[in-house]
Amino acid sequence: MSPDPFADAPTIRWRAGGRDAQRIVIAGTTGSGKTTLALMLAEQSHRAVWIDLKGLNDPGWPVVPALKFPDNDPAPYLAARLAEWPHITVQLSDMPGMKDLDQVDRVAQAAYKLGNVLLVLDDAMGVLTVDPPYYLNRVITMGRARGVGFMAIVQRTHRIPRVLMTEAEHVVAFELPGAEDVDRLAREAGPALAAARDLRRWHYIWYAREQRITQAFNPLRRARKTDQVNTQLDQSA
Ligand SMILES: Nc1ncnc2c1ncn2[C@@H]1O[C@H](COP(=O)(O)OP(=O)(O)O)[C@@H](O)[C@H]1O
Ligand SMILES: [Mg+2]
Repeated sequence: MSPDPFADAPTIRWRAGGRDAQRIVIAGTTGSGKTTLALMLAEQSHRAVWIDLKGLNDPGWPVVPALKFPDNDPAPYLAARLAEWPHITVQLSDMPGMKDLDQVDRVAQAAYKLGNVLLVLDDAMGVLTVDPPYYLNRVITMGRARGVGFMAIVQRTHRIPRVLMTEAEHVVAFELPGAEDVDRLAREAGPALAAARDLRRWHYIWYAREQRITQAFNPLRRARKTDQVNTQLDQSA
């Protein structure tokens, strides 16, 4: 018998970018382990842009200020940065008059036009409690055809736009104490996500809509980044 605890479990397939790129929502309370999982997944994508709304640069990737993206045709600028480093962090400016939402949408525009890249919004509550702006909405609704994957990391799922819930092929829940947050996941994604309320720190449940799989995971062993999660990343372009 195989000692691998996941050997009999179906493999969840999450496609970060390239053909049929997917959308994923990672939800959980502060400190529940969202960023750690997101980073592990993003590191495996062949190109990624991590929009850092808190200015922490958790990935430790090279930082590009959002203000550097030219306001018309920002895609060539992004292409040039990703040619230097395939994974970059974009940080927002807090200059007065520069709205976060506008800065995020410029980066979303670049990713959407360029194609073949994973766009990550960590700590996205600041920009994802309203209807997504134009290009972010396109990434969410039409990114698949352009090879643009999208990862939204949120604390309160009851406040995120409906389009994100309906388009996300994957929903991951870490510990989520808010009843209204859990209820929404259970209602609009998989009923098994109701168990998110009782998860312990760093444990998570992964719902894969197309495959109709809901699977519970133990905490990542971060020393061995990729081999514990039974997840395949399809890098095909
Ligand atoms: N599987 C894990 N094993 C050990 N420590 C973890 C694990 N996941 C997260 N942590 C630690 O817990 C803290 C919170 O994790 P983080 O991913 O930043 O949570 P969140 O993004 O949900 O706030 C961090 O210090 C992180 O290093
Ligand atoms: Mg975090």
